Amino acid sequence: MRTAADLFLGTVKLGVPEYGFSSTAPVVSFDAQQFLCEAVKLGISRFDTSPRYGNSEEVIGQYIGQASSKPFVASKIDNLAPNNSDTPGLMEKSVNDSLAKLHLSTLDICYLHQNEMEIISDPYIHQGLSLLKEKGLVRQAGASVYSKEECSYAVDCGIFDVIQAPVSVFDLGFYNDFVLNKNPPVTLIARSLLLQGILVNRRQIKGQIKQSDAVLQYLDNLDQLAKEADMSTLDMALAFVYGLSGIDYYIIGTTSLENLKHNIECLKLELPRHIISEIKVLAGTPKQWTNPRNWSLNG
Ligand SMILES: NC(=O)c1ccc[n+]([C@@H]2O[C@H](COP(=O)([O-])OP(=O)(O)OC[C@H]3O[C@@H](n4cnc5c(N)ncnc54)[C@H](OP(=O)(O)O)[C@@H]3O)[C@@H](O)[C@H]2O)c1
Repeated sequence: MRTAADLFLGTVKLGVPEYGFSSTAPVVSFDAQQFLCEAVKLGISRFDTSPRYGNSEEVIGQYIGQASSKPFVASKIDNLAPNNSDTPGLMEKSVNDSLAKLHLSTLDICYLHQNEMEIISDPYIHQGLSLLKEKGLVRQAGASVYSKEECSYAVDCGIFDVIQAPVSVFDLGFYNDFVLNKNPPVTLIARSLLLQGILVNRRQIKGQIKQSDAVLQYLDNLDQLAKEADMSTLDMALAFVYGLSGIDYYIIGTTSLENLKHNIECLKLELPRHIISEIKVLAGTPKQWTNPRNWSLNG
């Protein structure tokens, strides 16, 4: 059975509290260090962060500075340009900056935060990733993808050890094409299990997502299934993704200890087979709105 050791805590909200569709308003008195200590007590030993997440790396570094055992940390490199011979040096500087903030000497995973093909296939960036490994600054190289073209390239190119992709009751496209019965030669990490929280925090959908009618209709379908399974839609959604075989780890983003506890408890749940089959049909159908980059009301 899966345990909290299979979860990464997604930490974008440590540095960007307004990110996503939160269950609560940002708490002015939020104590990030206490939250991280309590998360570790619940069995969390892996953190996903990035220089793009405000001061998330510093907050985690402060925790690591006083912790008795070091967690597993994944961070990222951002703001790279294609076809630039300075790239390997810029990548080394970025990782050294992250390591200093995190109070670490090595990153367990270093992702490229940019997903575009021209970035993940760039020879100078590949050279940079190899250099970082040779120097012992990075253990594994990762790609964080948004499209199947990117995922296919990242799985096959032999540069990346780890791939992070969305997998949820909304979107099984990546799972069906690259994980199910495939046994790919990379570690697979599922993210966006709650699609930034829209599953549970629906009030803001109309004002923030262009395809809000389709999203709300889809949520209604999920609610019906959850009713049949006699559980909440949130529990059903998490039990569904936690039950998928072939995924190595899951990222779950929250700054609420209660929500984190709940999300860990859901690791124990099992769904009736017919509910799993019905979700697979719904989630296996491609939908433009499952990529948050398509949500813009102005675009
Ligand atoms: N390109 C990339 O590399 C990339 C892209 C996206 C995300 N990520 C990583 O993945 C992490 C997760 O991000 P995501 O966008 O995929 O979000 P997610 O994990 O699908 O959902 C997070 C949202 O759900 C809410 N939530 C979580 N548990 C809940 C519960 N039990 N009840 C009610 N609400 C709950 C959280 O709010 P509360 O804080 O109120 O619980 C938060 O707003 C990020 O922190 C980041 O580390 C990486």
